[in-house]
Amino acid sequence: MEHIAEITTQQLQTAVADILAVLKPTMPKFTHAFRDSNSRHNFYPATPNVEWTTGFCTGTYWLAYEATGDALYKDAALVQVDSFLQRIQNHVDVDHHDMGFLYSPSCVAAYKLTGNQTGHKAALLAADNLMARFQEKGQFFQAWGTLGAKDNYRLIIDCLLNLPLLYWASEQTGNPAYAQKADAHTKTSLAHLVRQDYSTYHTYFFNPETGEGTEGITAQGYRNGSAWARGQAWGVYGLALSYRYTKNPECIDLFYKVTDFFVDHLPKDGIPYWDLDFTDGDGEPKDSSAAAIAACGMLEMAKYLPADKAAHYTSLAKQLAASLATGYAVKSPEVSDGLLLHGVYAKKSPYNTVTNRGVDECNTWGDYFWFELLTRLSKNWELYW
Ligand code: GLY
Repeated sequence: MEHIAEITTQQLQTAVADILAVLKPTMPKFTHAFRDSNSRHNFYPATPNVEWTTGFCTGTYWLAYEATGDALYKDAALVQVDSFLQRIQNHVDVDHHDMGFLYSPSCVAAYKLTGNQTGHKAALLAADNLMARFQEKGQFFQAWGTLGAKDNYRLIIDCLLNLPLLYWASEQTGNPAYAQKADAHTKTSLAHLVRQDYSTYHTYFFNPETGEGTEGITAQGYRNGSAWARGQAWGVYGLALSYRYTKNPECIDLFYKVTDFFVDHLPKDGIPYWDLDFTDGDGEPKDSSAAAIAACGMLEMAKYLPADKAAHYTSLAKQLAASLATGYAVKSPEVSDGLLLHGVYAKKSPYNTVTNRGVDECNTWGDYFWFELLTRLSKNWELYW
């Protein structure tokens, strides 16, 4: 990427004001219902509490509550927290590993910010649900599908963001098992997902009989050997969070290398195309959410680094924030009811297994991490993760 002027205080304040101007008028539509995972032509359909993405809607309201102190956002978030308790109690679309994505920004946040007991209860139930997906043979949380099935016996890099829920559960209950399993999953992930050049696999398969790692395969990246931009970004933020909870120095070393691979493959304006195989002139869409996620990870890890390294990664995060503010953030509710334009949920390639979805659209995690990034740059933020 080219050097970009870091985001200014004025830009930061304007970006938060723009977010609130979009968020507030849409609250009647998105309180008892949620935003779908991605927009259609930049506007979100409403959806019930399903999929892995609804926690970001609630998390966005918590960030708005922190930014304004306005009870309107808190009340809407708490309506959604009730829905998350019902979802886990009734076991609605929770046969997968994404309990952290769902329950950290919604229910853990509710408890941390307001002491809400419904959120506390729901988040602990979600942690238990995730624990049931731990595979002793291989030592990892199985991401998707029927437990133990050979064709789904794999972990994925995204799961690093699901683990803070388990560290929180250990802290709250005094039961070390949650944190122990999270540690084991991290160890397995780092041993298999990071390649020799510090690009990362999206998913990695294991032999269900022996637990041995077998092969890295992409789901949402361009090809098995490429670095899916959002996967690499999950790696950046995941390593920062893993260090926060484990203090394992290997996470710092890998953070430098995985983050530098990401940064070295950014195009001119610092916002990646959906796979790091692509650059300017290839005619592929960008994934703005990957930039927001990676920048949040850089700011988190900067807390634990020597001063020169902390300054370097903080500056990069501020440069990415400036680029997002200038070219990607929604500046008017007429343009979109999302917060961050130009994301990609999934794009089909000759070598992956997905169909096109949310290509060049807003997505709820892009919106959320954009707001988290601005919040991190505005104050000393206490994490929901
Ligand atoms: N965690 C799924 C995704 O990033 O699309």
